[in-house]
Amino acid sequence: MRRKRDIIIKGFSKLLKEDKLKLVAEYFENPGEVISLLKSFWHTDASQQKLFDEFSENTISNFYIPYGIAPNVMINGRNYLVPMVIEESSVVAAASAAAKFWSERGGFHSEILGTTKIGQVHFSWSGEPHTLFTLLPALKKYLIESVKPITANMEKRGGGIVAIELIDMTDKIDDYYQLRAHFETKDSMGANFINSVLEEFGQSLKVFLAEQYQLSDDDRQCEIIMAILSNYTPECVVKTWVECKFSELENVDERLTGEEFALKFEKAVKIAQVDPYRATTHNKGIYNGIDAVAIATGNDFRAIEAAGHTYASRNGQYESLSWVEIEDDTFRFILEVPLAMGTVGGLTSLHPLAKQSLHLLGNPSAPELMMISSVMGMANNFSAVKSLTTKGIQAGHMKMHLFNILNHFKANDVEKSAAVEFFKDQKVSFASVGQYIDSIRK
Ligand code: MEV
Repeated sequence: MRRKRDIIIKGFSKLLKEDKLKLVAEYFENPGEVISLLKSFWHTDASQQKLFDEFSENTISNFYIPYGIAPNVMINGRNYLVPMVIEESSVVAAASAAAKFWSERGGFHSEILGTTKIGQVHFSWSGEPHTLFTLLPALKKYLIESVKPITANMEKRGGGIVAIELIDMTDKIDDYYQLRAHFETKDSMGANFINSVLEEFGQSLKVFLAEQYQLSDDDRQCEIIMAILSNYTPECVVKTWVECKFSELENVDERLTGEEFALKFEKAVKIAQVDPYRATTHNKGIYNGIDAVAIATGNDFRAIEAAGHTYASRNGQYESLSWVEIEDDTFRFILEVPLAMGTVGGLTSLHPLAKQSLHLLGNPSAPELMMISSVMGMANNFSAVKSLTTKGIQAGHMKMHLFNILNHFKANDVEKSAAVEFFKDQKVSFASVGQYIDSIRK
């Protein structure tokens, strides 16, 4: 019996997992099959499955995404095997091809430009603005003292509060001010640490102002609106680049000399610097690589992307995050991205595969992981622009997509092997693969 979609479900989160699953299955014509399908993706080890169930709310199954490896990733003279979790067929292949290409030309170079993160306490103050600023030195001391129980451990690891600013935003919204705090969170991404400190700052700010002005709760001169980290991290940034002589680009494309390829590539990247439509796709290619590493290592890819897109707009228009420099006969391709990543805390050690990914990378520090991730962003960006400016993107993309199309036609292993052979020198498209499968089945 199919359940009506317009009935409001009450107490879903309180149901047992099996009952949630049954309830969801009732929305389908074939509930038994739906239950079997969703259960077939449960982990065979019940304790592992429990771990996954406890990551989130209302879990009824697991959603698989391929876990791949890009080998030969040479960064600052060190060679990495980089784990990438991504569903898009061509991303790992593109990253691996770029990694191999640059490993033969000096590898990737990467440096950290900063690691501090920012959080804000947003509040209203209806008293005199200048009195707040006069009190700022005393307020800072008070705030820092008030969070000592939270910051003590982070300080032992070399992190903590780096600076606190008071920002007058009353030209934008009446009575609106911000405390903007800068944090060093070492190897943790630091969201929970920063948010705990900020919430305490909010409480303490109220108490401090009440004491200074002998305000009662009813005076309401200071209202804490909210306290939260900012996912925009323009002070937590990594710069990555590759470079080589034009002569080392001679064989990239049979129709272009090394110099012609370098100049065409530069033009393509310039287009992404001036046109937001192209910049969005160009940067998407960068995040193909970065997100895949972020997911494989248990990092928050939504936060990472949000920061990157704001950073890409910092000059007033959305632009490409990478650019090209040509100096005499040298081609240099550079990427600068904000990346707030952690290698301790959160899912990094709880998710068994995230932990394994970090092992594979040699248990990097957070800054090292920032470098590795940005390199994979650059690797994917390089491969995409290289294809776009030479043979076009579809040839390689569709070759990698071939198995998805074959699976769509329910091809068996023999048909797949034959198709791989046949399409080595044929154009792959949905129609051409369909025709080929029809022809061999006849
Ligand atoms: C596809 O996932 C990414 C590309 O569109 C990136 C680009 O166009 O630069 C190929």
